[in-house]
Amino acid sequence: MIEIIFGDNLTELKKLADQSVDLIYIDPPFNTGKVQKRTAMKTTRDENGSRIGFQGHHYVNEKIGSKSYQDSFGDFYAFLQPRIEEAYRILKNNGSFYFHIDYREVHYCKVLIDEIFGRDSFLNEIIWAYDYGARTTKKWPPKHDNILFYAKDPNHYTFNTDDMDRIPYMAPGLVGKEKSERGKLPTDTWWHTIVPTNSKEKTGYPTQKPLGILRRIIRASSNPGDTVLDFFAGSGTTGAACAELGRNCILMDNNPEAIQVMKERLKTAI
Ligand SMILES: C[S@@+](CC[C@H](N)C(=O)[O-])C[C@H]1O[C@@H](n2cnc3c(N)ncnc32)[C@H](O)[C@@H]1O
Repeated sequence: MIEIIFGDNLTELKKLADQSVDLIYIDPPFNTGKVQKRTAMKTTRDENGSRIGFQGHHYVNEKIGSKSYQDSFGDFYAFLQPRIEEAYRILKNNGSFYFHIDYREVHYCKVLIDEIFGRDSFLNEIIWAYDYGARTTKKWPPKHDNILFYAKDPNHYTFNTDDMDRIPYMAPGLVGKEKSERGKLPTDTWWHTIVPTNSKEKTGYPTQKPLGILRRIIRASSNPGDTVLDFFAGSGTTGAACAELGRNCILMDNNPEAIQVMKERLKTAI
């Protein structure tokens, strides 16, 4: 079953039960945060603070300026933190969390997520490498996104190596026919095209991610019949992959356009 929910994800996440989903993937929108820039906040752990967060720790929220890069990150951090705390609460104890983000923000986000999940829960930084668009001549042209992978319990989580899509050997002649036909397991570096402009997959939603990336995550980190949550769902790529792979899916977005695109894209599944 695929469920599409319209609304602010913080409000909607609070309605979901503790430990009720098996896998969470999110691709939050950095940079759309111009509105949030007005209220840049810094959250610091302080046992005298009035805000209570994960595991009952106290925090203080401090308003800071909004001009510098650090400050605009402070905004994003304050936006993300309560949502990731909700994700942690909703995730089953053997569940996994994938966080898709831009290379400029990933380091700050990792520190934030480590605080909520614990550093031991961090398993991989996946590099999704693509080759598209203009190339700057001023520095190495950035052509990748980062996906942080966490397991709520790093000693007990779903990871289906037997059900992964396999990739070709670079030198198939060196490994023999059987191995080369079977291919090898993917690593933490994934080469995959962006959604091609003229493809059937393209919905027209600006930040749409490729189905191939979501299929790989869902096959590896969930089982048929499991429930997957994407609370920054956009065009519903996570839902489309879940529908193909026999997983249930909860999709949230606060943009009516995204809801419309998802309803059209997933009309045979909802
Ligand atoms: C980068 S896009 C996700 C794209 C998606 N992965 C795909 O493949 O289409 C981020 C989405 O988060 C949504 N969003 C931003 N803030 C939100 C909020 N507070 N609650 C729910 N959705 C939100 C935006 O409307 C946008 O569709």
